[in-house]
Amino acid sequence: MKVLIIGRGGREHAIAWKIAQSPLHPQLYIAPGNEGMLTITDAPVELVPIDENNTSELLKFALENKIDLTIVGPEAALMNGIADAFQEAGLSIFGPTRAAAQIEGSKQFAKELMQRYNIPTAAFRTFENYDDAKRYLNEIGAPIVIKYDGLAAGKGVVVAMTVEEADNALKDMLLDNHFGQGKVVMEEFLEGPEFSLLTLVNGEQVVPLVIAQDHKRAFDGDKGPNTGGMGAYSPVPVIPQTQIDWAVEHIMKPMAKALANEGCPFCGVLYGGLMLTQAGPKVIEFNARFGDPETEVVLPKLKSDLLQMMLDILQHHEVNPEFHSEAFLGVVLAAKGYPGKYGKGFEIKNLDKLNQLVFHMGTKRDGEAWLSNGGRVLFVVGKGATLAEAQQDAYEGVRQLECPDLFYRNDIGWQAR
Ligand code: AMP
Ligand code: GLY
Repeated sequence: MKVLIIGRGGREHAIAWKIAQSPLHPQLYIAPGNEGMLTITDAPVELVPIDENNTSELLKFALENKIDLTIVGPEAALMNGIADAFQEAGLSIFGPTRAAAQIEGSKQFAKELMQRYNIPTAAFRTFENYDDAKRYLNEIGAPIVIKYDGLAAGKGVVVAMTVEEADNALKDMLLDNHFGQGKVVMEEFLEGPEFSLLTLVNGEQVVPLVIAQDHKRAFDGDKGPNTGGMGAYSPVPVIPQTQIDWAVEHIMKPMAKALANEGCPFCGVLYGGLMLTQAGPKVIEFNARFGDPETEVVLPKLKSDLLQMMLDILQHHEVNPEFHSEAFLGVVLAAKGYPGKYGKGFEIKNLDKLNQLVFHMGTKRDGEAWLSNGGRVLFVVGKGATLAEAQQDAYEGVRQLECPDLFYRNDIGWQAR
């Protein structure tokens, strides 16, 4: 069985690591991957030097090499229509079409669908024009949330606590076209703990994985700029199982059904970014792919064979995944300066000495040495009977690493213990 994984970060490393353990003994190809992924020893791994956005070359590679299943990591490849191209060529791919991926790519599309199908989310209005948006802001006041409608790499969201902050965001997005020409969604400010619910979906079939929580801000105490995520853990004790079950029934299943009804059935990972408010779980956002870094703690918790699960889901067979009872907690090491400007090529010492599971987010080899090669560089995963033990294990690993040019948060999972 030949499996092609598309992407190059920690998420794709975790997917590859998990797929490699399959009793189906897959041969793995990762495009473009990173050299850290060659540390996987359970199955043969080959890195394919094709950019994740080069759909035509990826398709050519998959056809020539008779790839049995392709798994897509990053959203950009999905928005480029990689699933459409592979499906048209008769290839099996785990990832949504461009139309279905709009659930992540267009906030307006997502919000309107939620409204139409009564899926709980923050009340909202969409604006293209600064004056109209400003008038609405004056009416409704702060706190309010302003979101740029389009892919802005997690940076297009401003949670404004004052009218002035909100107005600045509107000016940025609608007058100065900071992210390009577009619309903004202005939405009601919600409060409560957040969690990520990843589900494997094919049409109306929805298979939930265990939930995780990530830490989006760069620095301790949730300070500093928003990042792609600085750490994650699973399980999330503040979220009761009854609320997770409710979210599967009233949020994830209805959304899968809505997308099918609208003529763009979803196949792949439907990710609910949810908040447990006083009024129950509500949607903050949907993503059309595995979360990063949530995947790096959720897949270690998964006991079942992910490859077999995906093949079964593609055939619409029933799937009931099993999970390990241990807790998993992971800490990101990022280059100083991330998510702003940062350097590359910093040597990381002692990496080969760690007993912990390590996923490479952005590294490269230089002879025997490991060098940083991105903003987020490594993800060190601890495990234990409890979150406190998993946390201790993760930080023991992190502290063994020597690299003065990297930083990490000291409080991943702190409040959850
Ligand atoms: P998003 O990119 O939509 O996930 O938003 C990024 C972050 O902004 C979320 O993880 C939340 O912490 C926060 N956020 C987004 N929407 C809201 C909202 N309606 N109320 C409160 N916080 C929000
Ligand atoms: N960790 C958030 C995301 O993958 O979008």
